[in-house]
Amino acid sequence: MIELINLTKDYGTVLAVNNLNLRVATGEIYGFIGPNGAGKTTTIRMMGGIIEPTSGKVIISGIDMKEDPLRAKKIIGFVPDRPFLYEKLTGMEFLKFIADIYEVETNIITPRAQELLEKFALTDWAHEIIEAYSHGMKQRLIIAAALMHDPRVLVIDEPMVGLDPAAVRMVKDMLKNLSRQNVTIFVSTHTLSIAEDLCDRIGVIHKGALLAQGSIAELNLAARTGNAGLEEVFLTLIREA
Ligand SMILES: Nc1ncnc2c1ncn2[C@@H]1O[C@H](COP(=O)(O)OP(=O)(O)OP(=O)(O)O)[C@@H](O)[C@H]1O
Ligand SMILES: [Mg+2]
Repeated sequence: MIELINLTKDYGTVLAVNNLNLRVATGEIYGFIGPNGAGKTTTIRMMGGIIEPTSGKVIISGIDMKEDPLRAKKIIGFVPDRPFLYEKLTGMEFLKFIADIYEVETNIITPRAQELLEKFALTDWAHEIIEAYSHGMKQRLIIAAALMHDPRVLVIDEPMVGLDPAAVRMVKDMLKNLSRQNVTIFVSTHTLSIAEDLCDRIGVIHKGALLAQGSIAELNLAARTGNAGLEEVFLTLIREA
């Protein structure tokens, strides 16, 4: 469902992503982990069609992001690392606004927004302006907004930052549910326990290149760390790179 082919991004002197090749199957949850500056956000921005690769391709459900960006973007729900919210809108207004952008059928917008507000425990806040939301509430609203057009692929950069334990559980359960409904999920995170618990496969990126990918067992094999947890695997792979 997601294919990155020889994907490269060069910011002048910095080679942020270096010839990355990666595939994510339909319904899979793929975790993307790596040190600060490894190239996660750059990769994710290229996947979402926010920035153009220097070379290589992003293919979403067989559609080349460069050749048909509108069609590719309609398949994706995108949650950036630093989301932009129109803070003078209410949560409900914001969801409707996003749905309009994605050309969601008018008669399903309100029920869909209500359903998502309910799912993210924001119903009581639906008609309050976003300015009054806490950080975690804004984060939940952003994820709800990314789901308004019922995307088949969800790409999230750092979904759990600043969420309380109940909200982390809420988002994890929601992502697992979506995957059961065959939504393909690509998620970057620094919270390794969440990656371990949530993801079918994990890719470790360092200096713009994949060091290893696979299940925890496969990563343990690659790192020769026996039966260790993800933290040990991660630190070993980075140390030896
Ligand atoms: N707009 C830009 N112009 C120049 N260099 C950039 C730009 N954006 C990112 N970089 C550089 O590209 C590299 C990869 O950055 P990126 O933000 O993709 O990393 P990251 O893995 O998301 O890191 P973090 O874990 O801190 O979010 C870094 O060296 C960064 O300084
Ligand atoms: Mg980042």
